[in-house]
Amino acid sequence: NRIAVLKGGWSPEREVSLVSGAAAAKALREAGYESYEIDVDRDIALRLAEAKPDAVFNALHGQWGEDGCVQGILEVMDIPYTHSGVLASSLAMDKQRAKAVFEDAKIPSPYGVIVSREEAAGGKVMSAPYVIKPNAQGSSVGVFIVHEGDNRPPAELTSEKWSLGDDVLVEKFIPGRELTVSVMGDRALCVTEITTALTFYDYEAKYASGGSSHVVPADIPADITEQCLDMALRAHQSLGCRGLSRSDFRYDENADGDKVFCLEVNTQPGLTPTSLSPEQAAHLGISFPELCAWMVEDASC
Ligand code: DAL
Ligand code: MG
Repeated sequence: NRIAVLKGGWSPEREVSLVSGAAAAKALREAGYESYEIDVDRDIALRLAEAKPDAVFNALHGQWGEDGCVQGILEVMDIPYTHSGVLASSLAMDKQRAKAVFEDAKIPSPYGVIVSREEAAGGKVMSAPYVIKPNAQGSSVGVFIVHEGDNRPPAELTSEKWSLGDDVLVEKFIPGRELTVSVMGDRALCVTEITTALTFYDYEAKYASGGSSHVVPADIPADITEQCLDMALRAHQSLGCRGLSRSDFRYDENADGDKVFCLEVNTQPGLTPTSLSPEQAAHLGISFPELCAWMVEDASC
């Protein structure tokens, strides 16, 4: 079986994807597959037509690779690929549209609205604390938390250099703890708590070694663990995801009513040495080569 591992791409998460892709390609070789890496550029369809792989391991993150675009190319070319299909990828990548799906599925998610970045920069969309984020990016690129007492949102938002979309999501900030759950097919793996000494689990905390610590399994009440596992599985299913996904949550122990809120489902979770899904699989005795091999066997189009 010849497996093409797609990595890189041209989203702001390019560097993360290069690491995920190299790790997956190595793991697939260890699992007995013939894998080779393709650093994706805009000639991707031509390169796949030449390479004619039996299946694609999609290790791309963010725009184009995670939002249904590359998935659409693979559908048209009839090449089986890992992770979610076109619609689930697009829905999950659009944080606000995913919220509408979560609402239908009775999965609590923080209140959010889409506004222009100028409006967000004015600081009057909702009362602090709140979060401003690009509606369709990953790895916390371009995310700002506005705390009570902060003067106004950061100037980057209205800078000419901003390249993360004209509209942004302004979302109520849920105080408390950061939890995450990976789903492998129809199985929610386990709950990890992420703690960071930095202000939040931002890009640096995610990928710099020592930037954050993970507690697996999270030291939380059993009913909250159950709730997170159940919500992750339902979030995966409600969006129509396939293969591996990872849902991110905020847990507010002191809230009246709902305590756990789903922020988003990542349809192409990171596979780097500091990433959460491989660690959760390992916790359940599933090695990284086994995880990657499972994803390839699950691939379809
Ligand atoms: N967007 C990054 C890769 C993640 O969710 O792991
Ligand atoms: Mg994400």
